[in-house]
Amino acid sequence: MTNQKKFLRYDRNQLTCDGVPFAELAEEFGTPLFVYSASAIRDNYRRISRAFASAKPLVAYSVKANSNGAIVRILRDEGSGFDIVSANEMDRVLMTGVSADRMIFAGVGKTADEMRRALKAGVREFNVESPAEAARLNDVAASIRKIAPVAIRINPEVDARTHRHITTGKKENKFGMSLDAARKLISSISKMPGLRLEGLHAHIGSQILSDQPHEEAVGVVDKFIGELVAAGHPLRTLNFGGGFGIAYHEEEKALDLRHVAKIVCALAKKHGLELILEPGRSIIGPAGVFLTRVEYVKYGKSHPFVIVDGAMTEMIRPALYDAYHEIRSVKKSSPRSKRVNVDVVGPVCESGDFLALQRELTIPESGDLLAVLDAGAYCSVMSSNYNSRPRPAEVLVDDGEAHLVRRRETKRDLYRHEVVPAHLE
Ligand code: LLP
Repeated sequence: MTNQKKFLRYDRNQLTCDGVPFAELAEEFGTPLFVYSASAIRDNYRRISRAFASAKPLVAYSVKANSNGAIVRILRDEGSGFDIVSANEMDRVLMTGVSADRMIFAGVGKTADEMRRALKAGVREFNVESPAEAARLNDVAASIRKIAPVAIRINPEVDARTHRHITTGKKENKFGMSLDAARKLISSISKMPGLRLEGLHAHIGSQILSDQPHEEAVGVVDKFIGELVAAGHPLRTLNFGGGFGIAYHEEEKALDLRHVAKIVCALAKKHGLELILEPGRSIIGPAGVFLTRVEYVKYGKSHPFVIVDGAMTEMIRPALYDAYHEIRSVKKSSPRSKRVNVDVVGPVCESGDFLALQRELTIPESGDLLAVLDAGAYCSVMSSNYNSRPRPAEVLVDDGEAHLVRRRETKRDLYRHEVVPAHLE
């Protein structure tokens, strides 16, 4: 089974994005290049909203997955809320005209300054992750005569069975609070005049492909809500986080949203709570392509290397998480052409600089274009300037038209913030 994507199609042997040939995009905007399909973003958002529709949730797009303003605006127009993890992310979303009461502020390390900014803007809910954070938020709120609406993030101690770097709900992870710590904090919240308890938050990890961890988390949260309500702590909201896994590999199956939606909606309804969700990857991941051009093919002693102009500086996921991203050649290769196992690598001086290892591909020629799929989430936002590589341009294809949504960085951008001490001039 191939990774089905409505927006990607070969037309006269050329891969296109919603009808626009990638070869034209490469010509106009250069490579490496991030390309996003607006139709795919809308479809993904709508699919999630529909799956959970019975609970009328606030679907708060997780901005960290890709914070490009054009993407935020598409989701704003869909009626999305936003999950933010810094006050700067909040400002990015505010700049698009979304009001702060559609934003959820998460993160283990909020500074006092960020709290102040978010309180003044009027964010809908702070996900509080520790007693120390609660104490600081209480002080900050009191100092500006505000009351912070809070959801306590619990760590349900469920193994999300995903990569160890992106699991968040196990007891050894830094996220959330144990049920014991949450109980204690919740019973002392009434003594904190700057805080108003609104609800619970649970996000157990990212790229979760199985129902099971969600089922386990639903069980833990259900019991805990019951206990809190019985102890006289009425709740209003339930934030079940994001983490819905997508199919990166041809043989993978994306998470069956319908089942998870059914049990999560049932949980919210059972306790009469407003449901909040924070999906990131499942909205933007499959809607993005990383377009890169082949520089050389080098025949190593054990196998060929396809050396491309894109690198770990734009796509850190393979190096960081051993992540698999499907690669298609932009010019359709004939089904009769021989396929061999190659490493697709970038020009960066690191052995970890690869986009794919031991991947079966038709050997391309220098100048050919490759499309790295599912590159919408956690790629451009995690990019760096290592090896003095300017960050690439980003393009949005909407209704058959390509729009530049981020300029390629220039050589000057690379040293813009450096300061030369006078004695070294
Ligand atoms: N809510 C919270 C509290 C989160 O920590 C995250 C992601 C999300 C929502 C969104 O999760 P999503 O629906 O996107 O799975 N860089 C890694 C992923 C890091 C995820 C961080 N938290 C990667 O490339 O796989």
